Amino acid sequence: MQNKIVITEDGSHTIYVPLLDEHYHSTHGAINESMHIYINAGLKHQKKKEINLLEIGFGTGLNAFLTLATAIQEEIKVNYFTIEKYPLVEAEYKLLNYPEHVFPEFAGYFGLLHQLSWETEHRVSDEFMLKKIHTDLKTFDFHDIPGFDLIYFDAFAPGKQPEMWSQEILEKIAQHTNPGGVFVTYCAKGSVRRMLNSVDFQMERLPGPIGKKEILRGIKQL
Ligand SMILES: C[S@@+](CC[C@H](N)C(=O)[O-])C[C@H]1O[C@@H](n2cnc3c(N)ncnc32)[C@H](O)[C@@H]1O
Repeated sequence: MQNKIVITEDGSHTIYVPLLDEHYHSTHGAINESMHIYINAGLKHQKKKEINLLEIGFGTGLNAFLTLATAIQEEIKVNYFTIEKYPLVEAEYKLLNYPEHVFPEFAGYFGLLHQLSWETEHRVSDEFMLKKIHTDLKTFDFHDIPGFDLIYFDAFAPGKQPEMWSQEILEKIAQHTNPGGVFVTYCAKGSVRRMLNSVDFQMERLPGPIGKKEILRGIKQL
């Protein structure tokens, strides 16, 4: 069965994956969820003016687009590294309606983020560098990339893809996170919080976006 584009409650699109019975975002609002978790609790929480950011799951490019627009507005330099095993094809990403609902002044960048080639660092604007890495997180070798200041962990839910939330993967990420680095995810499961605590993130639960009680944020200890 093919993936389907569906409209969430804030009018923005998400993708439904029948094989996993899973959506890319909250059906209560994709933009609302991404802004709440990744931009407001993540990007705006860290205080550096230049950061290396790692995203797990480029997907629709929504997090990347919101980060680019916020980086330009807030004058933060972001080096954005994103890992994706199953890139969307043009026929899919062309239909996504994000710039109609948020940051329309940056609409021109949305398609560009998808069109840029993989495995290469692209300077998209003065504030935003993008490197998309087409690979499987489970076998990814972190050695060639820099220490991170911000992690957007946006894999499918542990109940659907438990292998993405393994102690081994979280430990590798922790080892490549700078002290004081921020880890944010929509997942508030106790087992995930405990694993992150055990790899030296000091974790806190925060109120979630509409439809979700809590999310997690961690700060990497020295
Ligand atoms: C919840 S969606 C991510 C949504 C994305 N951040 C966005 O803004 O649209 C999870 C993403 O993880 C990707 N993915 C699934 N398995 C993966 C793997 N083994 N390695 C890397 N990416 C994977 C999926 O293709 C999907 O794009």
